Amino acid sequence: MRVTKIVSDLLEFARGKEPQLMKIELNALIAHAYKQLSSSLNTAKVRFLQENEISQLFISADPEQMEQVFINLFSNAIEVMSGKGDLAVRTVTKNNNIIIKISDTGNGIPQEAIDKIFEPFFTTKEKGTGLGLAIVFNIIQKHHGDIQVDSREGIGTAFIITLPAGKEN
Ligand SMILES: Nc1ncnc2c1ncn2[C@@H]1O[C@H](COP(=O)(O)OP(=O)(O)O)[C@@H](O)[C@H]1O
Ligand SMILES: [Mg+2]
Repeated sequence: MRVTKIVSDLLEFARGKEPQLMKIELNALIAHAYKQLSSSLNTAKVRFLQENEISQLFISADPEQMEQVFINLFSNAIEVMSGKGDLAVRTVTKNNNIIIKISDTGNGIPQEAIDKIFEPFFTTKEKGTGLGLAIVFNIIQKHHGDIQVDSREGIGTAFIITLPAGKEN
């Protein structure tokens, strides 16, 4: 399983495919990504909270890549919380953008690591690949979006993704 994970992360990173854009509903995609992950990680003690300002949020995006973004961010959050804590996702619209905030109640990221977390192969885990966030970064960039991190040691971490809103909202 470990080899499979390394190889699939490497392939995903190396491929850097152009997104196949489709009209997708983001809140449902996020819920689906969590559900997928729950079947492979123990999430019994994780409280998953979805707070949607608008119930249906349409964007033009590659559904597989977007799901990958949330799976990677959620697995980091669950890992840092050792399988126990709050994982919250909040979606709002602002101007012509959609803002997605993914927060956890883990230990946070030390100041000296903040600038490195999106670099490929940066990991603080014994068995990490260091590719999860590099993949997330690439996918968001290809969707003309932006990702920021706000972390407090001992309190938790929030990733804030900004994406252009679809015309349908
Ligand atoms: N939610 C988070 N809370 C604390 N640290 C995090 C979080 N997400 C990522 N990190 C840090 O960023 C590093 C890189 O993450 P990632 O690219 O997914 O690789 P990996 O999970 O294989 O280590 C992690 O090893 C960890 O140190
Ligand atoms: Mg990871």
